[in-house]
Amino acid sequence: MLVEEFIPNTPSKNIGSGAIGFSSPSNIALVKYWGKRPHQIPANPSISFTLSNCKTNTILRYTPKSTDDFSFDVFLDGNKQADFRPKIQQFFERILPYAPFLKSFHFDIETSNTFPHSSGIASSASGMSALAICVVALEELICIDLDSAFLKRKASFLARLGSGSACRSIEGGLVVWGKHNSIFGSSDLVGFQFPFEVHPVFKDYQDAILLVDKGEKQVSSSVGHNLMHNHSYAKSRFEQAHKHMDQLIPILESGAVQEFMNIVEKEALSLHAMMMSSDPYFILMKPNTLEIINSIWAFRKETQIPVCFTLDAGANVHVLYPKQYTSEVEHLIKGQLSVYCQNGQYILDHVGLGAEPIKI
Ligand code: PMV
Repeated sequence: MLVEEFIPNTPSKNIGSGAIGFSSPSNIALVKYWGKRPHQIPANPSISFTLSNCKTNTILRYTPKSTDDFSFDVFLDGNKQADFRPKIQQFFERILPYAPFLKSFHFDIETSNTFPHSSGIASSASGMSALAICVVALEELICIDLDSAFLKRKASFLARLGSGSACRSIEGGLVVWGKHNSIFGSSDLVGFQFPFEVHPVFKDYQDAILLVDKGEKQVSSSVGHNLMHNHSYAKSRFEQAHKHMDQLIPILESGAVQEFMNIVEKEALSLHAMMMSSDPYFILMKPNTLEIINSIWAFRKETQIPVCFTLDAGANVHVLYPKQYTSEVEHLIKGQLSVYCQNGQYILDHVGLGAEPIKI
């Protein structure tokens, strides 16, 4: 796959004003992306579950204009959001070669998240993927002869340029991003659905997100990615990610939940080990993150229920478990784990379908 594929070369037509809407979910990585090269190329392949309840709803209202610049306003929950502008301006600049029509319209970008604002859940994956797929839907109106598989691929390609992991939110289920030898068709440019058989247990896996710390992160993901350049352990970390991808393929096919948990937890701790050993080093986990991890391990030992954890670049804990154990795990969360959450807050989510159009 080459980037040229995404430069429009089909005839275009004039359209008037209108609106396009999409909802797009967040995703949780099982094998983590940490470290990148220029143009949002990942240093290693990753795989994630697309979520369902944690999502961004975006409406893109467009009005034709004749000036040669970007013109847009952003609204969060109906309120103008000036602090979102730089990120969107940068996104539009990056994707302009692939969406040259962006300068031909004024946009009102109306966005809202289904999860609480500043909950510590990154809205960049859901937000950027929702906006990217709206842009591609606009291209579909303007340019003729675009097929729907291409449109999804392009939405993922554009989303990646907004925020790397966002490219894994367009498709549902299990999504792979990054070139990996054992996965034919895998690419550094786009996320695409895991192409092998998936055991039913992984099709409706549950993810309870425990909100340990809702504050702003001290170190952003982009700073963290950059610290992987010249990191003493970078080479072995990238090799480890490749090895985990290889190991996960038969595990996901056969439904081997014990082996799945082993890799997923090792990935989460390896991600944070990279942060703790970079230069400068930093720690994003909080004491309550560790309390939760220890409680999950104790519960698992006592009950033999296959519940495990993973972490993003933050203090919150994602509790992962098969659907058949929902009542036992929810009981654990309510009774024991929620005391470690800020204001007792957590979000129950599960594997979902990916980005979907919103009827306007
Ligand atoms: O997409 P970014 O740049 O916010 O990086 C995401 C990095 C992790 O969430 C830590 C891992 C991942 O693969 O999602």
